[in-house]
Amino acid sequence: MKIGHLDIGAGALLAPMEAVTDLPFRTICEEHGAALTYTEFLSAQALTRGAVKATRRLWSSLDGRRFAVQVFGREPEVMVEAARMAVDIGACIVDINMGCPARKVTAGLCGSALMREPELAARIVSAVAAALPASVPLTVKHRAGWDDLSLNAADFARRMADAGAAMITVHGRTRAQGFSGTVRLASIAEVRAAMPRNIPVVGNGDVKSVADYLDMKHETGCDAVMIGRAVRGNPWLFRQVLAVEDGRPMPPAPTVAERRAVWRRHADLVAEYATPKMVLHELRKTLAWYSRSLHGGAELRHRCFAELEPHALLDLGEAFFARLAEREASHGCDLREPALALETKCLERHARRSGRPEASETWDV
Ligand SMILES: Cc1cc2nc3c(=O)[nH]c(=O)nc-3n(C[C@H](O)[C@H](O)[C@H](O)COP(=O)(O)O)c2cc1C
Repeated sequence: MKIGHLDIGAGALLAPMEAVTDLPFRTICEEHGAALTYTEFLSAQALTRGAVKATRRLWSSLDGRRFAVQVFGREPEVMVEAARMAVDIGACIVDINMGCPARKVTAGLCGSALMREPELAARIVSAVAAALPASVPLTVKHRAGWDDLSLNAADFARRMADAGAAMITVHGRTRAQGFSGTVRLASIAEVRAAMPRNIPVVGNGDVKSVADYLDMKHETGCDAVMIGRAVRGNPWLFRQVLAVEDGRPMPPAPTVAERRAVWRRHADLVAEYATPKMVLHELRKTLAWYSRSLHGGAELRHRCFAELEPHALLDLGEAFFARLAEREASHGCDLREPALALETKCLERHARRSGRPEASETWDV
């Protein structure tokens, strides 16, 4: 797919996700065939003030791979300055968030609140697009609308494109929906129909499998698909999408050895790049993701909270995958966990919340 002059090839895009799309996770997704990865959204105000909390999330991808930086804000000149910071660290795309539904963001009239101020949104887009080098397209990610009474995605997207946006991503829910209910594929289809053909439209929301991916493409006519929650702990979905796009047979589900190798790669990247304050939390997160719905996963997630040293968490993970490999060898391939007792699930959720420093503070899912 081409975004302006930039060719990003085939495959699905990794959605920007606060406290999720850090450098380690983006690297894993890039290595599994994501066509493009994004930083989590970064406040233009905080970046330009030099707030460490924001600037330390401005990661360039490893090995010179392309990446997008997403920023949010509402003052055109501040957004221009933040976009320049993104270009300075090598971003190949600057994306503007006009979709965040969280009160913390919309109270400042940023994120999805900009869908109610299309004129200001267009001014921001045109200021940033004009300030970026011709090689770095400006893109916008927004929702289906503010609420059911203002489903303005098609008109809004068209205005953003007229102002200089080179690609539009639509999460097919309204701000009022948050993450509830279902995605409105019709809204994404309306945006595609309203846009000039040379402006790609990316469909987003609830894609959890290749079947969902194909439905999204088929029902909306979108040029590409962006995937978020479903690839946490399942980066193999990117490789399955690529296979389907190339007309190759679907790769089989990952073996235990593959799962272990990818978890370990992810955990090693975390150990290398996470701040000392975050490393335990981030390592626990990798274990939780890669053990989800696997036999013994609930116990592993429970035991994680007792370990207070990174090497102990790594040992725990290694032992988990070693036991799983034995099980794979002796029981054939059924690695799934039996349905969890409700009580265990509640305990896990509680433990996750109470031991969760700086997880996504904004996106309540
Ligand atoms: C934890 C979390 C954090 C998110 N952070 C961002 C963000 O920083 N910027 C953004 O545009 N969307 C963000 N989103 C929304 C996702 O990019 C995506 O639009 C949404 O999750 C729907 O796609 P999915 O069903 O494939 O997850 C976030 C979502 C989640 C679950």
